[in-house]
Amino acid sequence: MPLMEFSRFRELRAENDRKAANEPRFDDGFRRKLEELLYWRRDVRHFSSVSLPQDRLEETLELACDTAPSVGNSQPWRFIKVSDPEDRHAVVRNFQVSNEEALRFQARERRQLYASMKLEGLHQAPEQLAVFCNEETKQGHGLGQATMPETRRYSVVMAIHTLWLLLRGQGIGMGWVSILDPDQLKRDLAVPETWSFVGYLCIGYPLRASPVAELEETGWQAREKPAAAIMHEHS
Ligand SMILES: Cc1cc2nc3c(=O)[nH]c(=O)nc-3n(C[C@H](O)[C@H](O)[C@H](O)COP(=O)(O)O)c2cc1C
Repeated sequence: MPLMEFSRFRELRAENDRKAANEPRFDDGFRRKLEELLYWRRDVRHFSSVSLPQDRLEETLELACDTAPSVGNSQPWRFIKVSDPEDRHAVVRNFQVSNEEALRFQARERRQLYASMKLEGLHQAPEQLAVFCNEETKQGHGLGQATMPETRRYSVVMAIHTLWLLLRGQGIGMGWVSILDPDQLKRDLAVPETWSFVGYLCIGYPLRASPVAELEETGWQAREKPAAAIMHEHS
Protein backbone atom coordinates (compact mmCIF):
# COMPACT_ATOMS: atom_id res chain seq x y z
CA MET A 1 0.00 0.00 0.00
CA PRO A 2 1.48 3.47 -0.88
CA LEU A 3 2.59 5.51 2.12
CA MET A 4 -0.15 8.19 1.90
CA GLU A 5 -2.85 5.60 1.62
CA PHE A 6 -1.51 3.70 4.59
CA SER A 7 -1.51 6.78 6.85
CA ARG A 8 -5.07 7.59 5.71
CA PHE A 9 -6.03 4.01 6.54
CA ARG A 10 -4.53 4.42 10.02
CA GLU A 11 -6.42 7.68 10.56
CA LEU A 12 -9.71 6.05 9.58
CA ARG A 13 -9.03 3.10 11.84
CA ALA A 14 -8.22 5.40 14.77
CA GLU A 15 -11.45 7.30 14.06
CA ASN A 16 -13.42 4.04 14.10
CA ASP A 17 -11.69 2.92 17.32
CA ARG A 18 -12.65 6.22 18.96
CA LYS A 19 -16.26 5.84 17.88
CA ALA A 20 -16.34 2.26 19.14
CA ALA A 21 -14.91 3.36 22.49
CA ASN A 22 -17.40 6.23 22.70
CA GLU A 23 -14.59 8.73 23.09
CA PRO A 24 -16.03 12.22 23.57
CA ARG A 25 -14.98 15.01 21.19
CA PHE A 26 -14.30 18.35 22.84
CA ASP A 27 -15.45 21.27 20.72
CA ASP A 28 -14.39 24.93 20.62
CA GLY A 29 -17.21 25.92 22.99
CA PHE A 30 -15.92 23.46 25.57
CA ARG A 31 -12.35 24.66 25.10
CA ARG A 32 -13.41 28.28 25.66
CA LYS A 33 -15.25 27.30 28.85
CA LEU A 34 -12.25 25.33 30.09
CA GLU A 35 -10.04 28.36 29.51
CA GLU A 36 -12.50 30.49 31.51
CA LEU A 37 -12.45 27.95 34.31
CA LEU A 38 -8.64 28.16 34.45
CA TYR A 39 -8.67 31.95 34.60
CA TRP A 40 -11.44 32.09 37.21
CA ARG A 41 -10.11 29.32 39.47
CA ARG A 42 -8.33 31.67 41.91
CA ASP A 43 -7.13 31.07 45.44
CA VAL A 44 -10.06 32.07 47.69
CA ARG A 45 -9.61 33.52 51.19
CA HIS A 46 -13.01 35.21 51.74
CA PHE A 47 -15.87 32.77 52.18
CA SER A 48 -19.61 33.07 52.73
CA SER A 49 -20.94 31.04 55.67
CA VAL A 50 -23.38 29.17 53.39
CA SER A 51 -22.84 25.41 53.63
CA LEU A 52 -22.17 23.22 50.63
CA PRO A 53 -25.03 20.93 49.59
CA GLN A 54 -25.00 17.61 51.46
CA ASP A 55 -22.37 15.17 50.16
CA ARG A 56 -21.16 17.65 47.52
CA LEU A 57 -17.60 17.77 48.84
CA GLU A 58 -17.38 13.99 49.23
CA GLU A 59 -18.64 13.41 45.69
CA THR A 60 -16.25 15.96 44.22
CA LEU A 61 -13.35 14.52 46.22
CA GLU A 62 -14.20 11.05 44.95
CA LEU A 63 -14.10 12.30 41.37
CA ALA A 64 -10.74 14.01 41.94
CA CYS A 65 -9.29 10.85 43.54
CA ASP A 66 -10.70 8.75 40.70
CA THR A 67 -9.23 10.84 37.89
CA ALA A 68 -6.03 12.59 39.01
CA PRO A 69 -2.73 11.22 37.67
CA SER A 70 -0.18 9.76 40.07
CA VAL A 71 3.27 8.28 39.84
CA GLY A 72 3.02 4.53 39.09
CA ASN A 73 -0.73 4.89 39.71
CA SER A 74 0.18 5.02 43.39
CA GLN A 75 -2.65 7.40 44.43
CA PRO A 76 -0.79 8.33 47.64
CA TRP A 77 -3.20 11.18 48.54
CA ARG A 78 -4.95 11.15 51.89
CA PHE A 79 -7.62 13.76 52.62
CA ILE A 80 -8.74 14.38 56.20
CA LYS A 81 -11.94 16.34 56.77
CA VAL A 82 -11.27 18.70 59.66
CA SER A 83 -14.59 19.54 61.35
CA ASP A 84 -13.99 19.19 65.09
CA PRO A 85 -13.85 22.70 66.68
CA GLU A 86 -10.82 21.70 68.78
CA ASP A 87 -8.91 20.58 65.70
CA ARG A 88 -9.88 23.73 63.81
CA HIS A 89 -8.73 25.80 66.73
CA ALA A 90 -5.39 23.99 66.70
CA VAL A 91 -4.99 24.79 63.00
CA VAL A 92 -5.73 28.49 63.61
CA ARG A 93 -3.17 28.56 66.42
CA ASN A 94 -0.65 26.79 64.22
CA PHE A 95 -1.24 29.37 61.46
CA GLN A 96 -0.86 32.33 63.84
CA VAL A 97 2.47 31.09 65.18
CA SER A 98 3.76 30.15 61.72
CA ASN A 99 2.65 33.43 60.18
CA GLU A 100 4.39 35.50 62.86
CA GLU A 101 7.52 33.54 62.11
CA ALA A 102 7.03 34.02 58.35
CA LEU A 103 6.66 37.78 58.82
CA ARG A 104 10.15 37.94 60.32
CA PHE A 105 11.61 36.43 57.15
CA GLN A 106 10.15 39.15 54.97
CA ALA A 107 12.31 42.07 53.85
CA ARG A 108 11.78 45.07 56.17
CA GLU A 109 10.08 47.18 53.47
CA ARG A 110 7.56 44.42 52.72
CA ARG A 111 6.55 43.59 56.29
CA GLN A 112 3.73 46.11 56.58
CA LEU A 113 2.04 44.92 53.40
CA TYR A 114 2.59 41.28 54.38
CA ALA A 115 1.00 41.82 57.79
CA SER A 116 -2.03 43.51 56.20
CA MET A 117 -2.85 40.62 53.88
CA LYS A 118 -5.39 37.89 54.54
CA LEU A 119 -3.59 34.64 53.81
CA GLU A 120 -6.20 32.09 54.89
CA GLY A 121 -9.94 31.53 55.19
CA LEU A 122 -9.69 29.41 58.33
CA HIS A 123 -12.37 31.28 60.30
CA GLN A 124 -15.02 31.30 57.57
CA ALA A 125 -14.55 28.30 55.28
CA PRO A 126 -17.35 25.82 56.06
CA GLU A 127 -15.29 22.86 54.80
CA GLN A 128 -11.64 22.24 55.53
CA LEU A 129 -9.31 19.47 54.44
CA ALA A 130 -5.82 18.56 55.58
CA VAL A 131 -4.06 16.77 52.75
CA PHE A 132 -1.24 14.29 53.24
CA CYS A 133 0.91 11.94 51.20
CA ASN A 134 1.22 8.35 52.32
CA GLU A 135 4.96 7.88 51.75
CA GLU A 136 4.70 4.13 52.31
CA THR A 137 1.87 3.26 50.01
CA LYS A 138 2.35 -0.12 48.35
CA GLN A 139 0.03 0.90 45.53
CA GLY A 140 2.11 1.46 42.38
CA HIS A 141 4.91 -0.95 43.47
CA GLY A 142 7.40 1.93 43.60
CA LEU A 143 7.27 2.61 39.84
CA GLY A 144 8.73 6.03 39.05
CA GLN A 145 9.64 6.74 42.66
CA ALA A 146 13.08 5.13 43.05
CA THR A 147 15.18 8.13 42.03
CA MET A 148 12.48 10.72 42.77
CA PRO A 149 10.45 9.86 45.88
CA GLU A 150 9.10 13.43 45.78
CA THR A 151 6.93 12.36 42.83
CA ARG A 152 4.55 10.89 45.41
CA ARG A 153 3.99 14.40 46.77
CA TYR A 154 3.73 15.82 43.25
CA SER A 155 0.92 13.29 42.69
CA VAL A 156 -0.95 14.59 45.72
CA VAL A 157 -0.65 18.11 44.29
CA MET A 158 -2.20 16.84 41.05
CA ALA A 159 -5.21 15.58 43.01
CA ILE A 160 -5.49 18.91 44.82
CA HIS A 161 -5.43 20.83 41.56
CA THR A 162 -8.02 18.52 40.05
CA LEU A 163 -10.23 19.13 43.09
CA TRP A 164 -9.64 22.91 42.81
CA LEU A 165 -10.91 22.95 39.20
CA LEU A 166 -13.83 20.60 39.86
CA LEU A 167 -15.00 22.76 42.77
CA ARG A 168 -14.67 26.02 40.82
CA GLY A 169 -16.71 24.45 38.01
CA GLN A 170 -19.53 24.23 40.58
CA GLY A 171 -19.09 27.83 41.78
CA ILE A 172 -17.24 26.68 44.91
CA GLY A 173 -13.97 28.31 45.92
CA MET A 174 -10.86 26.83 47.48
CA GLY A 175 -7.88 28.40 49.22
CA TRP A 176 -4.58 26.67 49.91
CA VAL A 177 -2.90 27.34 53.27
CA SER A 178 0.76 26.39 53.62
CA ILE A 179 1.78 28.79 56.40
CA LEU A 180 1.69 25.98 58.94
CA ASP A 181 4.12 23.87 60.93
CA PRO A 182 3.69 20.39 59.36
CA ASP A 183 4.94 18.47 62.41
CA GLN A 184 2.59 20.33 64.75
CA LEU A 185 -0.31 19.72 62.37
CA LYS A 186 0.50 16.01 62.18
CA ARG A 187 0.55 15.80 65.97
CA ASP A 188 -2.70 17.75 66.35
CA LEU A 189 -4.52 15.57 63.83
CA ALA A 190 -2.81 12.37 65.01
CA VAL A 191 -1.92 11.17 61.52
CA PRO A 192 0.54 8.29 60.92
CA GLU A 193 4.24 9.13 61.08
CA THR A 194 4.70 7.91 57.49
CA TRP A 195 2.39 10.57 56.04
CA SER A 196 3.84 13.88 54.94
CA PHE A 197 1.83 17.07 54.99
CA VAL A 198 1.09 18.59 51.56
CA GLY A 199 -1.52 21.31 52.07
CA TYR A 200 -4.46 22.59 54.07
CA LEU A 201 -7.53 23.51 52.03
CA CYS A 202 -10.33 25.94 52.90
CA ILE A 203 -13.47 25.33 50.86
CA GLY A 204 -16.78 27.17 50.48
CA TYR A 205 -18.68 29.70 48.39
CA PRO A 206 -16.50 32.74 47.62
CA LEU A 207 -17.68 36.17 48.77
CA ARG A 208 -16.33 37.67 45.58
CA ALA A 209 -15.01 36.42 42.27
CA SER A 210 -12.26 37.81 40.10
CA PRO A 211 -10.12 36.60 37.23
CA VAL A 212 -7.17 38.39 38.83
CA ALA A 213 -5.17 36.82 41.68
CA GLU A 214 -5.73 38.52 45.04
CA LEU A 215 -1.98 38.83 45.66
CA GLU A 216 -1.77 40.65 42.37
CA GLU A 217 -4.65 42.97 43.32
CA THR A 218 -3.05 43.82 46.68
CA GLY A 219 0.21 44.72 44.93
CA TRP A 220 2.19 41.85 46.45
CA GLN A 221 3.15 40.04 43.28
CA ALA A 222 1.91 40.33 39.71
CA ARG A 223 1.87 37.31 37.45
CA GLU A 224 4.89 37.07 35.13
CA LYS A 225 4.28 36.82 31.42
CA PRO A 226 4.28 33.11 30.41
CA ALA A 227 7.16 33.78 28.02
CA ALA A 228 9.45 34.28 31.04
CA ALA A 229 8.97 30.61 31.93
CA ILE A 230 9.12 29.05 28.49
CA MET A 231 12.56 28.70 26.96
CA HIS A 232 14.62 26.69 24.54
CA GLU A 233 17.37 24.40 25.79
CA HIS A 234 20.76 26.02 26.55
CA SER A 235 19.20 29.48 26.45
C1 LIG B 1 1.51 25.16 47.18
C2 LIG B 1 0.70 26.41 47.44
C3 LIG B 1 0.67 26.95 48.72
C4 LIG B 1 -0.07 28.11 48.96
N1 LIG B 1 -0.13 28.63 50.23
C5 LIG B 1 -0.83 29.76 50.45
C6 LIG B 1 -0.96 30.32 51.76
O1 LIG B 1 -0.48 29.79 52.76
N2 LIG B 1 -1.66 31.46 51.92
C7 LIG B 1 -2.23 32.10 50.84
O2 LIG B 1 -2.84 33.16 51.03
N3 LIG B 1 -2.17 31.58 49.60
C8 LIG B 1 -1.50 30.44 49.39
N4 LIG B 1 -1.46 29.89 48.14
C9 LIG B 1 -2.18 30.55 47.04
C10 LIG B 1 -1.25 31.39 46.21
O3 LIG B 1 -0.90 32.55 46.91
C11 LIG B 1 -1.97 31.74 44.90
O4 LIG B 1 -2.15 30.54 44.17
C12 LIG B 1 -1.17 32.74 44.07
O5 LIG B 1 -1.12 33.97 44.70
C13 LIG B 1 -1.80 32.92 42.68
O6 LIG B 1 -3.17 33.27 42.84
P1 LIG B 1 -4.31 32.43 42.19
O7 LIG B 1 -4.27 31.05 42.79
O8 LIG B 1 -5.56 33.16 42.53
O9 LIG B 1 -4.01 32.38 40.73
C14 LIG B 1 -0.75 28.74 47.89
C15 LIG B 1 -0.72 28.15 46.61
C16 LIG B 1 -0.01 27.00 46.39
C17 LIG B 1 -0.01 26.40 45.00
